[in-house]
Amino acid sequence: MSLFNVYPLNPIAITKASGSRVWDEKGQEYLDMYGGHAVISIGHTNPHWVKRIEDQLHAIAFYSNSVILPIQTQLADLLNEVSGKKDYQLFLCNSGAEANENALKLASFHTGRKKIVAFKKSFHGRTSLAVAATDNPSIVAPVNETNNIIFLPLNDIAALENCFKEQGDQIAGVIVEGIQGVAGIYEASDAFLQSIRSLCDTHGALYIADSVQCGYARSGQFFAHDHAGVHADIYSMAKGMGNGFPIGGILIAPHIPPKFGMLGTTFGGNPLACAAALAVLEVIQQENLISAAEEKGKYLMEALQQTKGVKVVRGRGLMIGFEMEEAFADIRKVLLNDFKVFTGEAKPNVIRLLPSLAISMEDIQLFLERLNQAIHQISKTPL
Ligand SMILES: Cc1ncc(COP(=O)(O)O)c(C=O)c1O
Repeated sequence: MSLFNVYPLNPIAITKASGSRVWDEKGQEYLDMYGGHAVISIGHTNPHWVKRIEDQLHAIAFYSNSVILPIQTQLADLLNEVSGKKDYQLFLCNSGAEANENALKLASFHTGRKKIVAFKKSFHGRTSLAVAATDNPSIVAPVNETNNIIFLPLNDIAALENCFKEQGDQIAGVIVEGIQGVAGIYEASDAFLQSIRSLCDTHGALYIADSVQCGYARSGQFFAHDHAGVHADIYSMAKGMGNGFPIGGILIAPHIPPKFGMLGTTFGGNPLACAAALAVLEVIQQENLISAAEEKGKYLMEALQQTKGVKVVRGRGLMIGFEMEEAFADIRKVLLNDFKVFTGEAKPNVIRLLPSLAISMEDIQLFLERLNQAIHQISKTPL
């Protein structure tokens, strides 16, 4: 049977990983500046994470959400502590799309309203509501099309105010990435997030912070939205949450009451996923990865700004996008094929860096050296 051919693949078969390195089946080593798409938060096959999952496997891997699973409460308590969202409630699911789907449904249930405000170039996932709130018609199937989503330009406070003035009594929620990832690393400004907060308060709508990619310590705060100094009503999380073990969730503000049956899932919150997520938070705490992400990101961004051929650098912490001059359009391919470095991309020409938050300074230095070598190779200037 063939695999359903939906992914344009690099012809490289990865079979082993450790820290910020991966190896192909022939034993060739690669430096991973992509983190499997911002998923590897504490490093590939981190020993504490492996041990926690192994121990959990021997105890119990799965039972349904019809009984008390104490490890879920442990995870909720540690998340409250590490995220600083003290009295928030936790609903667990399995992926980023599912987290946003539940966040959007909850906003609609809670307010009794239908309209959602989302932003141009946003990406929120591929399930029905999440994809409808994603600004990419090519991945929206006809059955997902709806008039309930209003797309506005990011960081345009006047447009947002105007929208609330005209339709405020119909808006259930505003969903926004703290730093747009798939779009190519564009930050929501502090003033814009503060306006979302106050307009949602005035009009009884919920502020949904999509933290699937920019959250979980990556930006130098636990949630990238925290840089603006205001709290959201719902934070969606996934990617870095399990360091590769599938898990997602939403943090829900204390003023939003639950009701039996309003949300639910079979696999969400299973003990194995909770063990993986606990290991991630423990390592984030023990290794101070929130401030590490901030410091290493600052160093990397400053070095990129001084690199020949680099036009623009954007981002925060270890969520970085940069664009090269036209002559270096092939740099990602050269980095991968000739210098064995994985990076991410955003169409048409943004290179995304989403490495493990535990990446060493030596590996950051190694990346910069290889980038410079790739630039010299393309421009044919001798080193
Ligand atoms: C901001 C954001 N939200 C949601 C998602 C969807 O997450 P998943 O692929 O786990 O469904 C992504 C995935 O890239 C994302 O970047």
